[in-house]
Amino acid sequence: MSTRGSARDTRTTTHTIAVIGAGYVGLPTAATLGHFGHRVVLAEREAGRLAALRSGRMPIVEAGLDELVAGSVAAGRLTFTDSATEAVKGAEFVFLCVPTPQGADGSADLSYVEAAAKEVGPHLEPGAIVVNKSTVPVGSATMVEQVIGRPDIRVVSNPEFLREGTAVKDSLHPDRLVVGADDAHAASRVGALFSLTGAPMIVTDATTSETIKYASNAFLAIKLSFANALAGLCEEVGADVRDVMLGLGYDKRIGFEFLRPGPGWGGSCLPKDTRALLHIAGEAGYDFSLLAGAIASNDEQLARMVAKVEAACGGSVDGATVGVWGLTFKANTDDRRDSPSLQICHRLTGLGARVQAFDPTVAGTDPGGAGETADGHAEGADDLVPPDLAGLLLRRDPYEAATGAVVVVVLTEWDEFRWLDFSRLLSVMAVPSIVDARNLLDPAAVRRLGFTYAGIGRP
Ligand code: NAD
Ligand code: UGA
Repeated sequence: MSTRGSARDTRTTTHTIAVIGAGYVGLPTAATLGHFGHRVVLAEREAGRLAALRSGRMPIVEAGLDELVAGSVAAGRLTFTDSATEAVKGAEFVFLCVPTPQGADGSADLSYVEAAAKEVGPHLEPGAIVVNKSTVPVGSATMVEQVIGRPDIRVVSNPEFLREGTAVKDSLHPDRLVVGADDAHAASRVGALFSLTGAPMIVTDATTSETIKYASNAFLAIKLSFANALAGLCEEVGADVRDVMLGLGYDKRIGFEFLRPGPGWGGSCLPKDTRALLHIAGEAGYDFSLLAGAIASNDEQLARMVAKVEAACGGSVDGATVGVWGLTFKANTDDRRDSPSLQICHRLTGLGARVQAFDPTVAGTDPGGAGETADGHAEGADDLVPPDLAGLLLRRDPYEAATGAVVVVVLTEWDEFRWLDFSRLLSVMAVPSIVDARNLLDPAAVRRLGFTYAGIGRP
């Protein structure tokens, strides 16, 4: 059962919708549905996130989200609650946007989805449609239907494809909509909620819809691992990976997207979703060695970045002060989940480096100031430092991070790093050396100033 069409084909009617979970997906989804004229109640159980929303502040960094949320709130089409059962009162559609983190064996942990379904099940309006927007493995629509255990309730798979950093744009103008259910009418009704996007819509069964989501992320991961591996090859043969990618990208079958080599791909989705798909394949008895290879290649990429920093430090980072720019998994987000930058930082500290890091979304401390020990570590403030940043010296700007360092490593592609005063940088570093794991800087310009420069896959 598969139909294709445009969401624009369907007229928009106003509906009452509950969204459960105000994270990187739930919040843009709720605001977008409000923007499209629907009445939305957004449930968030984390007190900090809810308080921020209620006071008009965004709990996440996402361009344009504040305006979109404020617009829907001002129009009276978006309200917030701490209770999922409260949110589903009167709702015709209930979107589950709760986390599905990686479980111990690599599979998706469905406990949040299950708990949310169990919580709202008895309170759903007769005939309400529950929508799995969380990324969930094959069979999850059936699982949620079973947990709810009501013959009048249909569950529709509607995977989300937004990227952090461009979530608003991606929500308002998605490349496609995918809706899957055994009941095609229920699936189409979910798709129609987004009719104003005008995006092509694929109506299919739930299993296929669930597979599409993992297949998309797996393909992107394989593409990135290919780009990173090619950068390694370019270094060996003396080619420039940026021109190689340009040469590839003009082939319309390949395209330019997702061919920028980096320190490794990370974030809250690609790593966990590739492992979850590998797990799904394993359970089904299918040897998905191509995907396993892409995952292994990503780990090698992190190791290659560490080796580059070691080489820049003369072979060992033990005892060396290393400046790091960027801690988030990519620019324009505050998300550090599964960040390649952090993994590289922790590998470097494990090898004895003293890592001084700056990120525009992370508060830094005064070097040597009150609250810092002689070796620069936070004093008595361990409980204030988020666990993923423990062991790093957090600085307030890129120059502080570079002060006294023998190398600066660019790990996240924040645009502001391009426009720094590199003469000032030269004056604060112990050794003027840059490892640019994002190919963000102009090698000729920084070399002219006296820096040693190493990018990836380019001379
Ligand atoms: P998140 O952790 O940012 O947000 C989830 C929110 O749900 C949290 O704020 C949590 O407190 C809340 N929550 C959990 N259970 C709840 C309950 N019972 N009632 C009310 N609130 C509850 O997660 P996310 O990044 O938004 O991801 C959500 C899902 O979407 C995951 O399955 C993820 O794989 C998928 N996804 C994420 C992205 C992305 O870019 N982050 C993109 C596409 C799909
Ligand atoms: C990714 C997908 O792009 C979304 O379509 C999907 O909805 C989402 O996962 C999800 O399922 O959660 P996101 O995690 O926000 O989105 O980030 P991406 O833009 O895909 O970047 C992932 C990683 O690849 C980052 O570490 C990024 O720096 C890296 N990357 C990306 C590169 O190294 N080079 C590139 O050219 C592109």
